[in-house]
Amino acid sequence: GAPVTQSLKKIEAGQQLIVGWRSLPVFIVNRTPAQLTALAQQDPRLVDPKSDGASADQQPKYAQNETRSIKPEWLVMVGICTHLGCVPNYVGEMKPEPFDPNWQGGYYCPCHHSRYDMAGRVYQGVPAPKNMQIPPYHFVDDNTVQIG
Ligand code: FES
Repeated sequence: GAPVTQSLKKIEAGQQLIVGWRSLPVFIVNRTPAQLTALAQQDPRLVDPKSDGASADQQPKYAQNETRSIKPEWLVMVGICTHLGCVPNYVGEMKPEPFDPNWQGGYYCPCHHSRYDMAGRVYQGVPAPKNMQIPPYHFVDDNTVQIG
């Protein structure tokens, strides 16, 4: 499939845009400072916080860091649950949900209740085995990302 180019100019802090790439939904999120701060705090409750275990094949090398991204604020991620392939819902606000009072928001899969944080890292105790996939991407300029 051809690369997809997307302007980031209209994506406000805390907002998600979904673009299609190779028939896959790609989530692009302009993460807020609060969402970024929450990432490190989640590590003890995640399956693979450094994405170097079961999730080692789930991102390019340049995204193998705490934010799983090139620029901390910009999440660019394939929005497919690693359990059975549903598309998780973005729950950007830091609010608990009924299945897990300690969850800090991120992604919630409606199919079998898997939960992920704001870097697509999966929580312990849910069916999904791995963190969600980071696709190949780069920044064409400050306000433009190219996926693929
Ligand atoms: Fe997401 Fe099963 S497909 S939890």
